[in-house]
Amino acid sequence: MKKVLVTGGCGYIGSHTIVDLINNGFEVISVDNNINSDLKVLEGIREITGKRVKNYTIDLCDLEKTKKIFRNEKIDGIIHFAALKSVGDSVFQPIQYFNNNLVSLLNVLTCCEEFKVNNFIFSSSCSVYGNAKDLPVMEDTPFEEAECPYARTKQMGEKIIHDFCVPNKDFKAINLRYFNPAGAHESGKIGESSRNAPTNLVPVITETAVGKREEVVVFGDDYDTRDGSCIRDYIHVMDLANAHTKAYQYLHDNKNSDNCEVYNLGIGEGVSVLEAIAAFERSTDQKLNYRIGPRRAGDVVAIYANLENASSKLGWKPTRNIDDIMRTAWVWEQ
Ligand code: NAD
Ligand code: WQD
Repeated sequence: MKKVLVTGGCGYIGSHTIVDLINNGFEVISVDNNINSDLKVLEGIREITGKRVKNYTIDLCDLEKTKKIFRNEKIDGIIHFAALKSVGDSVFQPIQYFNNNLVSLLNVLTCCEEFKVNNFIFSSSCSVYGNAKDLPVMEDTPFEEAECPYARTKQMGEKIIHDFCVPNKDFKAINLRYFNPAGAHESGKIGESSRNAPTNLVPVITETAVGKREEVVVFGDDYDTRDGSCIRDYIHVMDLANAHTKAYQYLHDNKNSDNCEVYNLGIGEGVSVLEAIAAFERSTDQKLNYRIGPRRAGDVVAIYANLENASSKLGWKPTRNIDDIMRTAWVWEQ
């Protein structure tokens, strides 16, 4: 059986991906220092899949401890989620972000080289595009200036992987650029549960509806969009999870045409903030307390993906929409 090391396996996207990998016959081990997660998510995974996933509680910035995992386990490949991800925090703690996100990546790649592990998937982000000029965004749309240190760690991470692939001809990497992941597993047993208070739109909506917050502030309705609010490409986390399984299988089967490829993962459609709120109210039968506030600094006006490559090469297509996102996020919140 193919044994996949999932870094950041206790995190939001990592845990959902583990479920999809297990459901598709993969053996999974996880490594997570729980800086932004809790070990109890493994219990949720066990309830859904019937499998107990082994987790190494290790900081990937520690090379010697990271090597131990590779010595102990016969790893077929890696899906590297582990990173700090808060745009806002990264502005105030740039060193922590560069250190954590880049040193952990360098250490994992060092192990790939030493232990000859040749299948590698990296969690990148649409934030690498910065304020993209042309929509929808294609994989070859050039990177604009990063809007924050977090986004810069993803731009740098992709370039590090690219350079690593040049001399390591047997190594195969895919950078997956996620747009706006949201929603939860249908069972309501796992979902998004960061240690830090969320700032992303969907959890802010569900926390408001459940009474943890007073209101949702819509950050601006005077943009040049169809209703004045910003447009994003929200992708259901289980569709995103399945894209990792497909991308991993693709690498494992040597279907890649280049040893460093990149794919956008979104649904290929833009949804405005006001449309997202309407979707929440429609799909959950809840009335949401929201008001229009000022613009948020650093927000791009509109961004959504072109999906051509992911669907034609990986054979992946998202099957859920914004209503499914809201419905499952709401079940999880409750
Ligand atoms: P998350 O914080 O829920 O998961 C990341 C996990 O990595 C956490 O469990 C954390 O404890 C762990 N981790 C962080 N640093 C570590 C280290 N040094 N050693 C070991 N474990 C460590 O975040 P997520 O939303 O699941 O994101 C997963 C990946 O996807 C990240 O790389 C993130 O940058 C990227 N991404 C996320 C989004 C999003 O909106 N959620 C969008 C685009 C890209
Ligand atoms: C979505 C829309 C807000 C909260 C971030 C990162 C990106 C990627 C995904 C990691 C925007 C509006 C939000 C609120 C609002 N993550 N909003 N009121 O900023 O598109 O992307 O997460 O890689 O890199 O930047 O996501 O969920 O914060 O915002 O009006 O209380 O919702 O202005 O238009 P964003 P978000």
